[in-house]
Amino acid sequence: FSSFLTDNYSRQHNYLRISVTERCNLRCLYCMPEEGVPLSPSARLLTTPEIVYLAELFVNQGVDKIRLTGGEPTIRKDIVDLMHQIGKLRNNGLKELCLTTNGISLHRKLDSMVESGLTGVNLSLDTLDPYQFTIMTRRNGHDAVMKSINRILEMNKLGAKIKLKINCVVMRGLNEREIVPFVELGREQDIEVRFIEYMPFDGNKWSEKKMISFGEMLALIREKYPDVQKVQGHKNDTSKTYQVPGFVGRMGFITSMTHNFCGTCNRLRITGDGNLKVCLFGNAEVSLRDILRESNDGNPIDVEAMEAIKQFELGRRGTIAGSTGNLAVSDTEAKLLDVIG
Ligand code: GTP
Ligand code: 5AD
Ligand code: SF4
Repeated sequence: FSSFLTDNYSRQHNYLRISVTERCNLRCLYCMPEEGVPLSPSARLLTTPEIVYLAELFVNQGVDKIRLTGGEPTIRKDIVDLMHQIGKLRNNGLKELCLTTNGISLHRKLDSMVESGLTGVNLSLDTLDPYQFTIMTRRNGHDAVMKSINRILEMNKLGAKIKLKINCVVMRGLNEREIVPFVELGREQDIEVRFIEYMPFDGNKWSEKKMISFGEMLALIREKYPDVQKVQGHKNDTSKTYQVPGFVGRMGFITSMTHNFCGTCNRLRITGDGNLKVCLFGNAEVSLRDILRESNDGNPIDVEAMEAIKQFELGRRGTIAGSTGNLAVSDTEAKLLDVIG
């Protein structure tokens, strides 16, 4: 593994999340206001060749897992082609190629994506009830999401090995009574349902009262399944994994609000407008797009620019690991801009 992506806390950043669009076709209550979020002018967004170039650069440095996210990644016009091009990096050491999606238009594109090397889908679904779906997402589309889930299960029966996780954000008064039905999806199906603690984001009207903690969720599940037990997850998981004995599927809990997992974080992020960001909750970002387009006159990223990215990584990581949790981090952005000049 290259030292380039190892920070001064010995964490190896082998997992890159790339946001391929800022837009979304839903308006989930916990994520966006009805009017949507302000969008970057399209000239500031990364082009497909730029995304592929950066993906290759990071894979050559040791990244072996890439996740495409959004917004909603499947609404990027050329998502299938983009996935195909990134899929070719399997030859350079990429092992996992994943998608986080709301599933609305996935069923139309899934087969070609899997052909291109898609290995995992994290699908957001907060309710099994079509009416409640329109309340939580402010849009229709429950049928389409179920169609995507069913297509994944069907393809797996035919031999594909698509790792399916369902992401369910739990909000008090809206969907907590669906926790047990979601757990029961795993009775016969190999699905991992991950219950996510509701997190505050700019403008999502978060309140502690609406957040249901991991402890409370587990207690609710134990009322019906007292023998639910903790099982070993993977090293860098965002979630703690549990299983009801006898069920095929598992459940996970993403406890961003009550137990931080910064110590084992292995993620890097590239935003839709081309900024490298090392922490979901951090504000510091460095523009890879500018390095590509200006400092470098469109030429491949050179040694000096790579050094700048590395300094950014090291500086920021130390601050995060040294803090007690999900804190926004500070002053290295300015230092970095100095380095890039
Ligand atoms: P895998 O571990 O690869 O399955 O994916 P993931 O859980 O990292 O990604 P996904 O896009 O499915 O996100 C699920 C939830 O985890 C979302 O609510 C994210 O906001 C949260 N999440 C993802 N990355 C981080 C992180 O670095 N820090 C924190 N605190 N939360 C994260
Ligand atoms: N709190 C918790 N999870 C959230 N997500 C989006 N907004 C929030 C929030 N405020 C989840 C979505 C999706 C994942 C990428 O992030 O449900 O599954
Ligand atoms: Fe946000 Fe995802 Fe819902 Fe779209 S589907 S509004 S990006 S959480």
